[in-house]
Amino acid sequence: MKSAFGDELLPAAIETRDLSLWYGDKQALSSVTLILPEKRVTSLIGANGCGKSSLLKCFNRMTDLIPSARVKGECLITGTNVWGAKVDVADLRRRVGFVFQKAIPFPKSVFENVAFGLRLAGVVARDELEERVETALVRSALWEEVRDQLHTSARSLSGGQQQRLCLARSIAVDPQILLMDEPTRALDPISTGLIEDVILEFKKTCTVVVATHSLQQAARISDFTLFFHQGALVEMDRTEKIFASPADRRTEDYLNCRFG
Ligand SMILES: Nc1ncnc2c1ncn2[C@@H]1O[C@H](COP(=O)(O)OP(=O)(O)OP(=O)(O)O)[C@@H](O)[C@H]1O
Ligand SMILES: [Mg+2]
Repeated sequence: MKSAFGDELLPAAIETRDLSLWYGDKQALSSVTLILPEKRVTSLIGANGCGKSSLLKCFNRMTDLIPSARVKGECLITGTNVWGAKVDVADLRRRVGFVFQKAIPFPKSVFENVAFGLRLAGVVARDELEERVETALVRSALWEEVRDQLHTSARSLSGGQQQRLCLARSIAVDPQILLMDEPTRALDPISTGLIEDVILEFKKTCTVVVATHSLQQAARISDFTLFFHQGALVEMDRTEKIFASPADRRTEDYLNCRFG
C-alpha cells in the first residue's frame, strides 16, 4: 500500500485500519485508520490523553504488556499485521524500536547498555560488538562525550546524555522504525537540538514517529503531522499544511491554544 501526499506517492511503513484500543471499559483509540510513509519523520500531536502513546504502543505490541488493554482492527508494519499468528514479537520490537520520554538506562556500563540488544540479537564477536556500539554512539551524537568512559555506569551520565544513550541502544540493532514518545520533554534546548539533529539524520535510513507536545518541534523536524483528539485521528497532512491551514476547526483551536 502506498499513500499519496501532494504529488508524491510514498511507500507505507506503518498502516492502521479501523484500530481501536480499550483499557478495561475505557476507550483510548477510536477507529484510527492511517498510513505513515517510509523514511520520513511523522509527529503525533494533541492534548494530554488523546491517545498518542497508546497508538505508538500498538506499533510494536507494547500493549501486550498492559493486562487491561484490548485492541480491535489492524496494524500493519511493512504490510504484515503485528497481531498476525506468525509474528515473532521479539523480532518485531527489534525492527520497531521505542524511545521513552524518560531515559532509563540499564544499571550497567555505557558500553553494555548499547551492546545489550546486539547480544540479544546474537552478536557475540568482541570486534563486531565494539564497532557497532561505537557506530550507534556516533549516530546518536554521544560518542565524543563518552568515548573515554565507556565502562563507567550509564547512570552517571547527565539526563540529556542518558537520553542519547537510550537512542543509541535503540538504533544499535538497526531498526526500520523508531518510535519516540516525547523524547526531549525533560531536556534543555541544546540537548533537544542534538536529538532533533539525530532524528533528521536517521530518516535517511529509518522511519521515525514522534509524539510531542512541542508544536515548534513538530514544525522543525517532521514531514507529516497527525492531530488527535479524544482517541480519534482528526487530520493528517504535510506539516507545513497542518500548521498553515488545518482542515479541521479542532486542529486550528489546538494550534492556537484555544483548547480547554
Ligand atoms: N495503562 C493504562 N491503563 C488505563 N488507562 C490508560 C493506560 N494508559 C493510558 N490510559 C488512558 O488512555 C487514554 C489515552 O492515553 P495516552 O497515554 O495514550 O495519551 P497521550 O496522548 O499519550 O497523553 P499525554 O500527552 O498525556 O502523554 C487516557 O485517557 C489515559 O488515561
Ligand atoms: Mg503520552
